[in-house]
Amino acid sequence: MTSPFSQTDAHGRLRHLITLDGIGRGLIEELLARAQGYVTPAGALPPRGDELAGWTVANLFAEPSTRTRASFELAAVRLGADTINLDVMLSSRAKGESIIDTIYTLQEMQVDVFVIRDAEPGIHEYVARHVGPSVSVISGGEAHLSHPTQGLLDALTIRQCKGDFGPLVVTIVGDIRHSRVARSAHRALTTLGVAELRIVAPPAMMPGASEFAGARRFESFDEGIAGADVVMMLRIQRERIAGSGTTDSVEYHQHYGLTAARLARAHPDAIVMHPGPMNRGVEITSDVADGPQSLIRRQVGNGVVMRMAVLAHLAATRRARAP
Ligand code: NCD
Repeated sequence: MTSPFSQTDAHGRLRHLITLDGIGRGLIEELLARAQGYVTPAGALPPRGDELAGWTVANLFAEPSTRTRASFELAAVRLGADTINLDVMLSSRAKGESIIDTIYTLQEMQVDVFVIRDAEPGIHEYVARHVGPSVSVISGGEAHLSHPTQGLLDALTIRQCKGDFGPLVVTIVGDIRHSRVARSAHRALTTLGVAELRIVAPPAMMPGASEFAGARRFESFDEGIAGADVVMMLRIQRERIAGSGTTDSVEYHQHYGLTAARLARAHPDAIVMHPGPMNRGVEITSDVADGPQSLIRRQVGNGVVMRMAVLAHLAATRRARAP
């Protein structure tokens, strides 16, 4: 029997960030406000701070990533930390070294934060249970299960455009079953109290009935998008679908692609989101992805300030804990 794991300390502050499960509205609001505080006007230099001065942040990404990895690195550097980027999980597995030996090795070099992306469920918690008392683990993506900073940056992007979450209808479309982005968005937006969360997917990409509590399920995109305030598109996670070569992109686009004609069925002020990387012409057309309702590029910028906020929160937690 392993003892229960908590990513928060006795005061409800984050010691690690592995999942949004169990994180209350107050803490999410605090992180969103902190991130918003780092936003600088267009054209200005990026925000800087010294909240992480003297810290070392290690990015350990065992799955491909461009924006998540780069944004964690920039977030850490802009707050004054040193960073290292390693494909260490992969290489150490290949060499037969246990993950935990890799972590101990890096910890001896005084790494303070491990940002981990991995396809194996449970690895993040496993590492968090083994690190020293002042070391934190942040998930940069865990299998199909969780991508907490993506859920937070999506919430931040929605808040900037829509203000209040209370009246919003949010539609998430695509390969929901295999999507950690959808799971974390569902968790964040449900906690923040959106009026209605809809998930739209073909039957093979719909999650099991025990998941996505409270969400309305649609097989028809035309029905699921009607009147929506936020339309969040997803990439098909081919790497997570066994024997997946079979999804026909043309047919998928016909039924589940976001086109200008489909977007016209949403609320006239609806915003369009996508975590990236996009398959243009499959789940979204270029005119929509680059159009006036698209916030896809804004999401990327918000990824940096949101990750700064999480790192700064962890630093504040550690300072509060220090004797
Ligand atoms: C997503 C991921 O890796 O979970 N991308 C991201 O983090 N921006 C979504 C995806 O890969 O489709």
